[in-house]
Amino acid sequence: MNYDLVVKNGTIVTAMTSYKADIGIIDGKISAIGRGLAGKEVLDATDRLVTPGAIDTHVHLEMPIGNFVSSDDFYEGTKAAAFGGTTSIIDFVESRKEQSFLDALEERKSKAAGKAVIDYGFHMTIGPDDIRKLDQVQAAYEAGCRSFKIYMAYGLRLTDGEILKAFEAIGETGALPVVHAENWDVITTLIEKNISEGNTGPEWHTRSRPSLMEAEAVGRVIDLAAYAGVPVHIFHISCPEAAERVRQARIQGHYVSGETCPQYLCLTDEVFEAEGIEGALPICSPPIRSIIDQLGLWEHLSGDSFHTISSDHCPFTKEEKASGLSAFNRVPGGVPSIEMRFPAIFSRGVREGFITENQWVDLCCTMPARLFGLENKGDIQVGKDADLVIFDPGKEVVLSEETLHETAGWTPYKNMTMTGWPETTISRGQIIIGNGECTAEKGRGKYLA
Ligand code: URP
Ligand code: ZN
Ligand code: ZN
Repeated sequence: MNYDLVVKNGTIVTAMTSYKADIGIIDGKISAIGRGLAGKEVLDATDRLVTPGAIDTHVHLEMPIGNFVSSDDFYEGTKAAAFGGTTSIIDFVESRKEQSFLDALEERKSKAAGKAVIDYGFHMTIGPDDIRKLDQVQAAYEAGCRSFKIYMAYGLRLTDGEILKAFEAIGETGALPVVHAENWDVITTLIEKNISEGNTGPEWHTRSRPSLMEAEAVGRVIDLAAYAGVPVHIFHISCPEAAERVRQARIQGHYVSGETCPQYLCLTDEVFEAEGIEGALPICSPPIRSIIDQLGLWEHLSGDSFHTISSDHCPFTKEEKASGLSAFNRVPGGVPSIEMRFPAIFSRGVREGFITENQWVDLCCTMPARLFGLENKGDIQVGKDADLVIFDPGKEVVLSEETLHETAGWTPYKNMTMTGWPETTISRGQIIIGNGECTAEKGRGKYLA
């Protein structure tokens, strides 16, 4: 058989095992895994790892928040993702008050359609104005939203009663509820107290969002899900206390899964000590916490508390961040992580011995695909989409706004050295990143229903 493309002599790393073999690709699909395969085009992967394309199930591209729109659009954001080895993302739909879920989904799809260079799906958000639209949940599910986002914080937060109603509607479809879990009432009380006492610096962002209260919200929403009889996936867990709630619930047999993010695994609250705007740039929610919290998260990663590592990529420019410099609660929240996520978890997690290379692939590729119903993605098996990364485990990259392709103009990971970086990214059999260049045409990404 003469394959369209063969990835030769690499070490294939899956969630289960690692082994040496060639991969033969025909029509964008993995057609064979074996030895001595020949193709029209051959990529030599000697001394390289070959992983599934990474999947980032939590990104906010060109997302309107207040007066701003997150700085990477669907072209720049997916291009940066591809440089970092990501071949599929899941972003969000937020419908306007009078807009149906289906119209909002179509609007968001049309934003991505001409721009994305990798494949993309959407979580449908259920905000307070959407409780009267719960009869549309089934239609959104049928149109490809396999997950529904619920906030317990910000203006989009639901009350516990509304969460219960939403869970019941989501449960009818078999979709997965995904939750931003924080205790908003306590947070707003602490923000008010801290600001009134003149404590306006960025370090007070973390101090206004205690880990115990994040854990309380995680525990509460797990209990609500258990009562409604639905599974639940907890987004961006930032502290071991919250991770412990997931672990305990799973021991008790609840269908709960957890996500954490590179910002909680690679940064500590020392970032807030930088002078001026630099100290305010890394504000995101839940907040970046202490080194003890960070090490606690890594410990949980080798257990059963976490099932995905996503970026929660939500970048704003320095100017946008500076607009809120007068007090921490005015700074638009979110950091860029879409490009460094997959290599960072290898560099920090695998190389430093916190997790195995197979757990790295499971957390960043395989489990995200399984949880969110991306049946053709996330694994190296005959018949799956040929979304692959040829990964150089020894390549050193020093992170900076120059080496990364994100457009915010800053990175919270500046001057961090990553050992291990994607050399080639392949999406549905097409080389989209190679020799340091993006060769993907704008808009080639496909909607993942
Ligand atoms: O601060 C953050 N994480 N912004 C993005 C929106 C969210 O809460 O996920
Ligand atoms: Zn969130
Ligand atoms: Zn988010």
